[in-house]
Amino acid sequence: MIESEVEIQKEYMNKVKELNTEKLKYYILTMGCQLNENDSEKLCGMLEKMNYEQTEDVGNANFIIINTCCVRENAEEKLFGKLGEYKKIKEKNNAIIAICGCMMQEKHITEKLKKSYPYVDIIFGTHTLHKLPEDVYKVLSNRKKVQDILDIDGEIYEGLPIKRSDKKRASVTIMYGCNNFCTYCIVPYVRGRERSRLPKDILNEIRELANEGYKEITLLGQNVNSYNGGIINGEKYNFANLLRDVNNIDGIEIIRFVSPHPKDFKDDVIEAIRDCKKISRIIHLPLQSGSSNILKKMNRKYTKEQFIELADKIRKEIPDAVFSTDIIVGFPEETEEDFEDTLDVVRKVNFEQIFMFIYSRRVGTPADKMEQVPEEIKHKRFDRLKALFEEQIAENNKKYIGTIHKVLIEGKSKNNEEMLTARTSTNKVIILEGSETLIGKIVDVKIVSEHQWYLKGEITK
Ligand code: SAH
Ligand code: SF4
Ligand code: F3S
Repeated sequence: MIESEVEIQKEYMNKVKELNTEKLKYYILTMGCQLNENDSEKLCGMLEKMNYEQTEDVGNANFIIINTCCVRENAEEKLFGKLGEYKKIKEKNNAIIAICGCMMQEKHITEKLKKSYPYVDIIFGTHTLHKLPEDVYKVLSNRKKVQDILDIDGEIYEGLPIKRSDKKRASVTIMYGCNNFCTYCIVPYVRGRERSRLPKDILNEIRELANEGYKEITLLGQNVNSYNGGIINGEKYNFANLLRDVNNIDGIEIIRFVSPHPKDFKDDVIEAIRDCKKISRIIHLPLQSGSSNILKKMNRKYTKEQFIELADKIRKEIPDAVFSTDIIVGFPEETEEDFEDTLDVVRKVNFEQIFMFIYSRRVGTPADKMEQVPEEIKHKRFDRLKALFEEQIAENNKKYIGTIHKVLIEGKSKNNEEMLTARTSTNKVIILEGSETLIGKIVDVKIVSEHQWYLKGEITK
């Protein structure tokens, strides 16, 4: 049934292609996390099969698609701001405007769109992404607006076309949805319950990527270590099994994964990372808060002490492991003492990378109804956390000087076209001199100096 649905969409791709007799241009704007970026790669794949080609200049576009995120409030401001701009382009080019992604699963947003932005042609949600060809066909053939949003969990559709944004590094979504309902978070409401892809589908995709010359794979999901691959040979196939199998695929040299949940970080996963040398040595352990009291209110299911113990245990098994984390500052009812606990964990665990967020109210989540921390206090705490982390980075960076790393040359540096860029296994950006022909190759690099946000390296072989 699911395969036939993809077949139906492939027919629509052909039908649209027949309507689009000349090549048209599409522009895509992707907000949010890597899962959304991976979804956008599929949207691009479908659009290219329909005779559209990508443009970076929205002013030229005949088709504009916005893949939205709603995890924090600023995304909404961004969407509505952009729509004003795109309206003029629509009038000029007779363009189609489509909006999809997580925000479209929120009723108050789709209602606002219908009321105040009637020029939007297509709205679809996270569970109906694969139906873009059908939606485009309907709009082109009778110029009617299409809204295609499902409130129930979507199926997993294999075999959709995909246009990857990079030639050497690829993301592979292993599971969809989230069951955790952290009280601040909108994701479970807009992405539905956890659904895992079959191990064979994931492994085949990665084998194909390896054959195409891909070197680095990032396994994606909202809670990757609760991956459930079903029963294989009479035994449960879980995330640890998957890591080991991916590690065995020839040609793949670097494996990353986001995001694991600390509560599901079991020994078998730690052992798999320890044994599989291709797995990146930066482990993402999202802390969210260092206060057991706040963690309880967040429904995170671990305490401050358990988090520190987990980090210690991982370090004991994998001595070269470092950690990155996500922290929310100013969750409702967070006191000065609670915040001190967060700083305390940051001091103790010594994260290599911290993604810091100011708590943002999300309609429909339990935390939205709790007593809020004043904006000013939230911002002050954010600045204090940032200052502490910056002190730590300077210290941490010094340890890299003189060390040698096997890295993938990712491309030219964004800030300096003359230089190349790579990352250590612990995700530190390295800037180095070298010829363009090295892009996509794996080389050994020695770190010669540190500069807060990056390290400078030299190729040794
Ligand atoms: N599933 C992943 C993360 C998903 S969202 C995990 O559990 O780690 C990415 C990050 O956004 C979260 O880790 C959290 O730090 C942040 N975030 C989520 N909801 C938020 C909110 N309402 N306000 C501020 N930050 C939020
Ligand atoms: Fe959101 Fe929590 Fe699920 Fe992550 S684990 S997506 S923070 S509900
Ligand atoms: Fe945003 Fe949806 Fe990802 S809400 S963070 S794009 S899952």
